[in-house]
Amino acid sequence: MDESLFQAVGGEAFFRDLVDAFYVGVEAEPLLREMYPQDLTESKDHLALFLMQYWGGPTRYGEQRGHPRLRMRHEPFHINRAARDAWLAAMRAALDSLEGRMTSDQRETLWSYFETAANQLRNV
Ligand code: HEM
Repeated sequence: MDESLFQAVGGEAFFRDLVDAFYVGVEAEPLLREMYPQDLTESKDHLALFLMQYWGGPTRYGEQRGHPRLRMRHEPFHINRAARDAWLAAMRAALDSLEGRMTSDQRETLWSYFETAANQLRNV
């Protein structure tokens, strides 16, 4: 059986660290920060669980949150080009901060996924 990307990059710890680093970027970027709730604990948890599930790890996201319906869940937010770019910049910096914990192929796979997904979630 093929190893999932989830397993290959080191499982839950990798995705928790990625998401923590991503939210450091969110907190530093007012355009993003104002969209998120004051307390980021749940936001972090949801994103980490979602990514773990997406990449072949445990399905706790689905058990807790149901179908992702990401497009619908992002409708309340004004996601224009600038917001998309800011989100991607925070994610790129987060990936950079984990350099050495994934191969360049894995990094490329993750990055193209984030780019595609962020483009799909633009709604303005
Ligand atoms: C394009 C720019 C994006 C912006 C501005 C954005 C913004 C947000 C905001 C404000 C929330 C709500 C947080 C909360 O209620 O705690 C959210 C939730 C979420 N976002 Fe994004 N997002 C973007 C792209 C993405 C992408 C590309 C993904 C996935 C690859 C993603 C995955 C999620 C997930 C899984 C949640 C939690 C959904 C849930 O409630 O279960 N977002 N996003």
